[in-house]
Amino acid sequence: MTGDKPLWAGRFSRGPAAAMQAFGDSLPFDQRMWREDIAATAAHARALERAGILTPEERGSIEEALASAAAVFEVGTFVFDDADEDIHSAVERFLTDRLGDTGAKIHAGRSRNDLVATDFRLWLKGTTLRIAAGIHELSAALVAQAETHRDTLAPGYTHLQRAQPILFAHHLLAHAFPLARDFDRMLAAHRAADVSPLGAAAFAGTSLPLDPVATAADLGFAAVFDNAADAVSDRDFALEFLAAGAILGVHLSRLGEEIVLWTTSEFGFAVLDDAYAQGSSIMPQKKNPDIAELVRAKGARMTANLLHLLGVMKGLPLAYDKDLQEDKEPVFDTADTLAGALPVLAGLVATMTFDTDRLAAAVGTASAATDLAEWLVGAGVPFREAHHAVGSLVGRLGAEGRELSGATVDDLAAAHPAFRPEALERLDPRRCVEARRSHGGTAPERIADQLECIRAILQRQKSVLLGSEPKRIVKDVALGRRGARGADS
Ligand code: ARG
Repeated sequence: MTGDKPLWAGRFSRGPAAAMQAFGDSLPFDQRMWREDIAATAAHARALERAGILTPEERGSIEEALASAAAVFEVGTFVFDDADEDIHSAVERFLTDRLGDTGAKIHAGRSRNDLVATDFRLWLKGTTLRIAAGIHELSAALVAQAETHRDTLAPGYTHLQRAQPILFAHHLLAHAFPLARDFDRMLAAHRAADVSPLGAAAFAGTSLPLDPVATAADLGFAAVFDNAADAVSDRDFALEFLAAGAILGVHLSRLGEEIVLWTTSEFGFAVLDDAYAQGSSIMPQKKNPDIAELVRAKGARMTANLLHLLGVMKGLPLAYDKDLQEDKEPVFDTADTLAGALPVLAGLVATMTFDTDRLAAAVGTASAATDLAEWLVGAGVPFREAHHAVGSLVGRLGAEGRELSGATVDDLAAAHPAFRPEALERLDPRRCVEARRSHGGTAPERIADQLECIRAILQRQKSVLLGSEPKRIVKDVALGRRGARGADS
């Protein structure tokens, strides 16, 4: 089918209405999958050769034509035809224009239904690993700041009210550990995408002697579909990516919000490097945390992308429906958003400086209250009674215009008869911090444990990204059972 007729023109007596075509075409957004479409098409040509449908010469000329298509795509000079609905029809039309009947043989035994799912999965396989690398980079920046601030005293918050003194590393690591889970979720999304649908054809398989298991191995997939209708209608892998992206987006937005707070004059905990802050067009003194604010907002966008595709999939009848074309834009958008946000946030975190004096000064006065109550517990007082005694002490001092940090031995004695003078030491925030030695706590030894743990996680992430750790254990087993690996070796 050459010229400006659609691939399916045979049955139709009239060409498509311009408005219908403009509304229905996915080419504007799916042309970014040209690499994957070319790879999948080349693999299908090899499959057709193995099936005896293409001669080795025909397969060779198809691969050559695909290589020249790749070369023009690479430099952005591929010329689309008005009838190219999507990247799949564009590549097929290119082959037919180039090779005539040989090109016209390529679509035997395949459908755009299995092809689009193949391209999309290949695209996501690469993208999930690149995003995982971005997560790793941001995590490393947070961990480096945590190393720097392993002795820095800071206020910890609940309800955004000063709650208990901590080492600032404790707080920074509380942003790093969620990212370690995000990394694993991104890898899980990678594994979900790593299943080949090619050879499912429209949804019911084909009468041609093709071997989808061999095609899966040829394309480097870890596994192959089990049911052809499921293969073309399954978008779980895209949902899993979007869910991982949405959760990551929520984590980034929480970090963004804290950066916004820390850099206010009111908090004054952190100063952004000039390279990661923006000014005001009218107020010369301003230094704004625009990037942190944008990241805070992008969490909403990535959440919406997940909801969009969940909504599309809900109630959708099997097998392929054009609704499925709506899968790509939310996925591309989440991927692009993360590809932008992760490196810029990593740079911002790596270069921001923290004002350790401000952080220590903000620890404040009431924050030793829990520790005083725990001192009483150590002396055998029931916790509820201890809580009440210290609460009354804080209230009374406040009424006198005094702070808990200025409490005297007499104040303590008046608050509860079990208090001894040495309890006053607990008013020192560093003593409070040192005392919280429980698992995962903020004491220096526990921070050292946490740093060791996260460093080991970062190391493991590095080996996964460098490919030295198997990502495919489960799927390899599945493929082995079906013999796909053996097909090529
Ligand atoms: N552009 C389509 C998509 O993205 C490709 C599949 C078209 N299949 C079909 N039967 N119309 O989903």
